[in-house]
Amino acid sequence: MNQDCNVVPERSLTRSPGLMLTLALALLPSAFLAGTPDVSAQAPAQPTSGQQVVLVTGSTSGLGREVALRLGAMGWHVIVHGRSQERGLEVVDEINSQGPGNARFYRADLASFDQTREFGESLLRDYERMDVLVNNAGFGSAPNERLVSEDGHEFRFQVNYLSTYLLTHMLMPRLRSSTPSRIVNVSSLAQSPIDFDDVMIENNFSGGRAYGQSKLAQIMFTFDLDEELDGTNIMVNSLHPATYMPTGMVLRAGAQPRATIDEGADAVMQLVVSDEIEGGQFFRGLVPARANAQAYDMQARANLKALSQELTGVR
Ligand SMILES: NC(=O)c1ccc[n+]([C@@H]2O[C@H](COP(=O)([O-])OP(=O)(O)OC[C@H]3O[C@@H](n4cnc5c(N)ncnc54)[C@H](OP(=O)(O)O)[C@@H]3O)[C@@H](O)[C@H]2O)c1
Repeated sequence: MNQDCNVVPERSLTRSPGLMLTLALALLPSAFLAGTPDVSAQAPAQPTSGQQVVLVTGSTSGLGREVALRLGAMGWHVIVHGRSQERGLEVVDEINSQGPGNARFYRADLASFDQTREFGESLLRDYERMDVLVNNAGFGSAPNERLVSEDGHEFRFQVNYLSTYLLTHMLMPRLRSSTPSRIVNVSSLAQSPIDFDDVMIENNFSGGRAYGQSKLAQIMFTFDLDEELDGTNIMVNSLHPATYMPTGMVLRAGAQPRATIDEGADAVMQLVVSDEIEGGQFFRGLVPARANAQAYDMQARANLKALSQELTGVR
C-alpha cells in the first residue's frame, strides 16, 4: 500500500492514524492543508497578463509531471498537484528555474472529499482564471486489494473518478470565465463496465476491475459533460495516453513498460493545445477511438450521474 496516502484497509477505517491525522488537519487553516507551508519556493498565484493557467492533477510524478514541465517550458502558469510535497516542490522548482513559465504546488489527497473540497476552495480563492484542467491523478490496479477511501467508498472509484467529478464542478466558474478553456480527462484503455448493483465492488473484487471501472466512469463523465457544456466554449475530452508507460503505477504493478512517457505526454498535449480537435471524444493516443459500450448507454450514464451527485453533493 502507498505509504503517504490517507487510505486504510476497510477493517481499520474508524481507528486509523490516517483518519485521525485528517481530522487534526481539518482544524488547521486551509493554507496548511491544501497549500504548502514553504511558500517561498512558489511563484505568485496570479499569472502575468496573458499567461495561461493550467492545473495538472497528479503532476508530482509520471505522465502528469512531464505534462507540467512541458507547459511550464511553453510559458504557462502551472498548478502542480499531488500528495507528495517533496516531489511537488521539485517539479515547481524545475519549472520556475527553467522558465519561461512558473508554478505553484498544492497538496491534496483525492481519497478525501474534505481535502478535495479544500483544494478546490483554495484554487477559487487564489486564481481568477483557469484555461485548462488536466484531470490526470490516478491510482493504478496494484495492489490487488480492496481499499476504502476516507469517505468509505471503494478507493479507486473515489480517487480516480468521484473526486475528479467534484473538483471539476467546483472549478467550473473559473473555466467558464476563462473561455475558450479545456478539460482533459486522463483515462485508459482499461475499462470495466460498472455494475450499478455493486458499484463499490464488494463482490468479485480485483484491482484491475476497480481501476477499469473508475477509468470508464471518467469517459462517461466526459461524454455527459460535453453535452452539458454545449455552447459554452469549454472543450472536454478523455484519452488513453499510451500503453504501459514506465510510471509509478505501472512499475508498482510489475508490468513490463511498452511505451514512453513522452508518447503519453504528446497525446495529452494534443488535447491541451491543438486547434485541430473537437470535444466530446475519447482518444487512444493521438487518434479518436471507441470506448467500452457502456459509455454510449444513456441509462448507464444517467445512473452514474445520479450516483455521483449523491455521493459528492454536487448539484
Ligand atoms: N502509465 C500508463 O501506462 C498509463 C496508461 C493509461 C492511463 N494512465 C493514466 O495516466 C495517469 C497518470 O498516471 P501515471 O501513469 O503517471 O502514474 P504515477 O506515476 O503513479 O502518477 C500518479 C499521480 O497521481 C497522483 N495521485 C495518486 N493518488 C493520489 C491521491 N489519492 N490523491 C492525489 N493525487 C494522487 C500521484 O501523486 P503522489 O504520488 O504525490 O500522491 C501522482 O502524481 C493516471 O490517470 C493513469 O490512470 C497511465
